[in-house]
Amino acid sequence: MCGIVGYVGGQPALDVVVEGLARLEYRGYDSAGVALVTGGGLATAKRAGKLVNLRQALEEEPPPAATVGMGHTRWATHGAPTDHNAHPHTDCSGRVAVIHNGIIENFAALRAELEEAGHKLRSETDTEAVAHLLEDELKGGAGLAAALRAVCRRLDGAFTLVVMSADEPDVVVGARRNSPLVVGVGRGENFLASDVAAFIAHTRDAIELGQDQIVELRADGVTVTDFDGRPAEVTEYHVDWDVSAAEKGGYDYFMLKEIAEQPRAVADTLLGRIGAGGRLSLDEMRIPDDALRDIDKVVIVACGTAYHAGLIAKYAIEHWAGLPCEVELAHEFRYRDPILSRSTLVIAISQSGETMDTLMAVRHAREQRARVLGICNVNGSTLPRECDGVLYTHAGPEIAVASTKAFLTQLVAVYLIALYLGQVRGTKWGDEVTDMVHLLAEMPDKVDKVLETMEPVRALARSLADQNCVLFLGRHVGFPVAMEGALKLKELAYMHAEGFAAGELKHGPIALIEQDLPVVVVVPPRAREVLHDKIVSNIQEIRARGARTIVIAEEGDTSVLPYADTLISVPAVPTLLQPLVTTVPLQVFACELATAKGHDVDQPRNLAKSVTVE
Ligand code: F6R
Repeated sequence: MCGIVGYVGGQPALDVVVEGLARLEYRGYDSAGVALVTGGGLATAKRAGKLVNLRQALEEEPPPAATVGMGHTRWATHGAPTDHNAHPHTDCSGRVAVIHNGIIENFAALRAELEEAGHKLRSETDTEAVAHLLEDELKGGAGLAAALRAVCRRLDGAFTLVVMSADEPDVVVGARRNSPLVVGVGRGENFLASDVAAFIAHTRDAIELGQDQIVELRADGVTVTDFDGRPAEVTEYHVDWDVSAAEKGGYDYFMLKEIAEQPRAVADTLLGRIGAGGRLSLDEMRIPDDALRDIDKVVIVACGTAYHAGLIAKYAIEHWAGLPCEVELAHEFRYRDPILSRSTLVIAISQSGETMDTLMAVRHAREQRARVLGICNVNGSTLPRECDGVLYTHAGPEIAVASTKAFLTQLVAVYLIALYLGQVRGTKWGDEVTDMVHLLAEMPDKVDKVLETMEPVRALARSLADQNCVLFLGRHVGFPVAMEGALKLKELAYMHAEGFAAGELKHGPIALIEQDLPVVVVVPPRAREVLHDKIVSNIQEIRARGARTIVIAEEGDTSVLPYADTLISVPAVPTLLQPLVTTVPLQVFACELATAKGHDVDQPRNLAKSVTVE
């Protein structure tokens, strides 16, 4: 949430910063602003709304040339999304500017203290207090980095701060606590950003900052210290994707591109992990096999779409690994007293690796000595650093706010973990585990096949654009798929949508069924006869009550034909793997329906990609 860019070097800073903000806009689009060091002072510009409003303002009134600057794209927490509350915020003198991502929890007390001392605060944000605290520190004689250190020591909460001062025109200073900030290392230029996407067009060499660190960015170097000024250890890394991965590549929306990339993404998640004879090797998990053999319970924590991946993982882990598995929304888990031990494996799933709720759940689990394994898509993010081991999904950058390829690759990752646990622990499903590894390797082609047949799904979505509500039903792993289908529709089309376990219908939700209500039903493979036949009965029940049935079933399943107003066929795959093919039509459906309603599917209202506040 909130995107931050900082730059020091030889290029026009405004161009670098605005280009970086364009790549970070997925993190928030309530307002955008920039600050530049120019001729002895600071020039700032900021506008409510999307980046396009700021661009227009900058065209109408171009700021003076500068080679040092920073920019911010906001997801509002404190204060409405207005010009006034947009970042950067300055002190009374206008010589210090601050941008911020996160929440400063003690800002009310700090603000009261500042106002009592005569500071005039102009916005309703928690951020502005930082500019005024810095002003006081600088007046006391501190340099910018020392002043920021002193201020950070007074702040509670989560924050990335980037600051500039007209009196130190060659440096941009950043601070990080529980909120992302990475350094891009160039030649004669350096970058700061919430995400490498902001500077990937300039450099792929990056530095991962740790907790409670301060970075001083100059054209000729980068210095990292802790909040007490001691030199800090950092990790350097090379980003393994390039700028084309962060561009639309001819698609109208990132979401369309990311849906289309799924066969490749699924293949990349599998790459190098399947050995000869179908043996899996997941060395990078960094949790020894002996420790995995001692595991007696798995607990999965995640939020949103990643939570749905966790719900599917439960079926796979119980079946292939023979282990009890609980799945928890991370924000609920962290405030409970879960019963964990050294033999509990906690799996934290997060595309961004920066979701605050999930990070807090990880800390909660580690405090109780559980081993924690992360499933993450973003190299250099916080989650992998805080876990005992990590399995990267290698989906490549996901920029559309609604998760698609990250979800499919999270599924592949949890299947790999479930099968690996089965392999290491030698469960009764030994043969099935090996067979399943081979079948998993076929999934990129199956997903590709689904994508080839999506035109009728798009037409269906357009025809339903005037509906107010769509329900989704599933059984077994089809239930979380139904929840995921409903979530996609809520967040993109702003429609009421709900995913139910089909077995639950008669316990209440069937009362919602009325004439012509669209109900999407995910049908398990025929091979799971009991499950399959039960859901076919459910379809008949809702159709008898007037529902318009949209049935997703495997190719050749003629038993559903009499009851399906629309049939969407997907390739036949084993039940546990079926979410990889049944989710795709639901993504396409939501994307097309939202587009038909005229919504921006990459940037749905009120949302941001990376939820770095609780
Ligand atoms: C929905 C969506 C969100 C995220 C959730 C967790 O399309 O993208 O529900 O799945 O905010 O995000 P990560 O996976 O980054 O922890």
